This record gives sequence, structure tokens and C-alpha cells, in this order.
Amino acid sequence: MPLLAPSLLFADFLHLADDCAMLDNSRADWFHLDVMDGRFVPNISFGMPVIEQIRKTTSKICDVHLMILEPEKFAEAFKEAGADILTVHFEACPHLSRNIQQIKMLGMKAGVALNPHTPVELLQDIISEIDVVCMMSVNPGFGGQSFIPRTFKKITQLRKMIDDAGLQVKIEIDGGVTLKNARQIIDCGADVLVAGNAVFKSGDPVAAINALKDI
Ligand code: DX5
Ligand code: ZN
Repeated sequence: MPLLAPSLLFADFLHLADDCAMLDNSRADWFHLDVMDGRFVPNISFGMPVIEQIRKTTSKICDVHLMILEPEKFAEAFKEAGADILTVHFEACPHLSRNIQQIKMLGMKAGVALNPHTPVELLQDIISEIDVVCMMSVNPGFGGQSFIPRTFKKITQLRKMIDDAGLQVKIEIDGGVTLKNARQIIDCGADVLVAGNAVFKSGDPVAAINALKDI
């Protein structure tokens, strides 16, 4: 059964407590929290003050996806806000190993996100340091986009890299996940599905969560 990480990008921010309670009482596994800086990605979302409030509503894993430049400047603040997993972008980190060490020293799990055009092979020399690879299946910055089909091949490749090395790294797929493509994504070797639109725009988020958990 896949782990499910609904993205709160499409939550109702005027009634955030209700959406958090719904997720907390649901079969969702992680809260996926998308932080955008308007520089690494062409959009701005939310930051520490919002995450701090979300943290109070749940003991589930808070999976914070930083789509920001210079994430090292803010790692400690996100730890204080309540992040359990802190994911930085491969493309934003010229000294990625140092970022991973910092995240782990702060007591969080370290995630590395890959943009759709970034080859899986580039992780070869650092995969053993990573806890979660967040593979983007859309160009980051916006929810509600269509899944890029080439991602299937990349998941298979990454699964092989992880298994060949005998590692326990989790593969998380982020962007355009739907009830239609979820089965194929899992069959390629993914462990965690992020879902924004598919949950929050479905009309019945709890039913959508159940359906995604049962695929
Ligand atoms: C995109 C974000 C995703 C996104 C997921 O930049 O990282 O987490 O919000 O939303 P959907 O599932 O609608 O693509
Ligand atoms: Zn995300």
C-alpha cells in the first residue's frame, strides 16, 4: 500500500483547521507542505508561520518541500516550525551534501527533489545520504498540472539505483498524481504519492484519500 501525502496547497486557507482535522482523521500518511519563494519557482505560497500552525493540528509526519534558493538559510527555522522531513531541490543546492548534513544534524529526515529535466543518474554519488527522493512529475511552482509521462521511466531507473545499492530511500512522486495514473506510478516502484488537486478538488477529499490508498 502506498503512503499518501496530500498537498495543502489547495486547502481552504480561511478554514485551514478544518482541512487539517480532516487529513488528521483520514488515512493520509504525511502532510505535504509546499514552500515557494518566487525565485526558484515562479510562484509564492506560504512559510514558517503557517507550518507552525499546521504542526499543532497533527502528529502525522510534516513533509516540507522547499522550492526555494539557499535553503540552508532557513533549515533551522523550518525545524522549529515543525518539519519532520525537509526536502531541498537538487537544482538549488551546489553543495547538496552539506545541505543534507545540516538537515540531519537538525534532527530531520533529508529529502532531495529532482526537477523533471534533471537526470536520475546525477543522484548516484549521493543517494546513500538521502532519506527521500521527491521526484517532480510536473514543473514545480503550481498545483493542478498534468503528470509528465517520462516520469514513469525515471521512477523505474531510480528504484533500480536504490535497490542495487541495498538502500531504504523512499521515492515520492509529486505532481499530477490522479486515481488514473497512481497504480502505474506504484508499479514502477514509488513509495509515496503526493496529491493536491486529486484530493482537495475532488468534491469529497476523504473518499479521494481512501480511493488513492486502495489503488
Ligand atoms: C508543485 C508542488 C506539488 C503540487 C501537487 O510545485 O510541489 O506538491 O502542489 O499538486 P497536484 O497534485 O495538484 O499536482
Ligand atoms: Zn510538493
